[in-house]
Amino acid sequence: MLLGRPCHAAPMAIVLGIESSCDDTAVALVEDGWRVLAEASASQADDFAAWGGVVPELAARGHLASLPGLIQVALDRAGLTLAAVGAVAVGAWPGLIGSLLSGVTAAKLVAARRGIPLVAVDHIAAHLAAVHLGREHVPYPHVGLVASGGHSHYYLAREPGRLDLLGGTIDDAAGEAFDKAAACLGLGYPGGPRIDALAARGDARRRPLPRSFLTDDTIRLSFAGVKTALLYQVRGPLGRDPLTLDEAGLADACASFQAAVIDCLVGKLLLAARQQGVRTVAVGGGVACNRGLRARLAAEAARGLALLLPEPIHCTDNAAMIASLGYHRWQRGEVADLDLAPLPTGGTGLRGATLS
Ligand code: KG4
Ligand code: ZN
Repeated sequence: MLLGRPCHAAPMAIVLGIESSCDDTAVALVEDGWRVLAEASASQADDFAAWGGVVPELAARGHLASLPGLIQVALDRAGLTLAAVGAVAVGAWPGLIGSLLSGVTAAKLVAARRGIPLVAVDHIAAHLAAVHLGREHVPYPHVGLVASGGHSHYYLAREPGRLDLLGGTIDDAAGEAFDKAAACLGLGYPGGPRIDALAARGDARRRPLPRSFLTDDTIRLSFAGVKTALLYQVRGPLGRDPLTLDEAGLADACASFQAAVIDCLVGKLLLAARQQGVRTVAVGGGVACNRGLRARLAAEAARGLALLLPEPIHCTDNAAMIASLGYHRWQRGEVADLDLAPLPTGGTGLRGATLS
């Protein structure tokens, strides 16, 4: 049985996507770059809780162990065999090199065994390509923000995966700032979802925090100042008047921190769209799961901005976004050789790089 596939679809337009850049292993089957047929994933988060973070060597081995089974699960869920897959796309950079090697090796094996194209995908560009999932037509050009654990940058997206860097953070990524703020408040890792949950019950105005660069006309973010200001609030300036970290105090601190980060992310997104003369904006990456950010973006959309916002499961790391961008690259003939080598860093620095 073919789940979710209309009978007129060309079966060879199905891409198998593989994502293994950090500790989550994910596999997806996506048709025509937008229709998700099946997804399967495995998290190693519980294994790493005891270590207090990701152990790269263990993560790489975990990917190798789970990938063959996950590919089969995804095929079974879609009611397909590998014979229906037209190309294999894999997140090849940036990421933990051992983790990337596991995914790239699995992708090469499938491509070589089936004699189908292998497509290398940039993980950051894929976070923006996630706007294609479930949406047949995506308007280009648009301005995109990728806000994740390691990245907070703005791009002019000319085509899927063809991105001109407009600017971004000069220090922490937004997700990293959420995680550090949560650690400062004793909330544990990953901090983003915990701050998100508590912020809904807090009052952002009780202890306001600073917003860097908000009123200038540069596409720059900085979260060092808001993080330090939060730390001083928690400890109390000169040790006097520390924040009472009872339930209400925590909720207020989370609401205030989240509001400051959202103001900066959205303020610069609107500025970038104005500067580029576009009315469509896209947001991807794990921070795009944040309910406060989504509500604020929805409010901007109600004022006339066209908003492309993936479902939360396609904002955090996933393989459907890899398959989607892989499809577009494949259609453009941008396929990789079997000697493809993954890279720990991508071409996404703050130097005006173009991703393609
Ligand atoms: O995109 P992602 O899954 O992985 C990377 O490529 O980095 O992003 C993970 C980041 C973490 O820093 C996490 O705290 C943050 O996204 N995050 C959130 C939320 N959910 C995940 N930040 C704020 N609010 C959330 N609901
Ligand atoms: Zn990511």
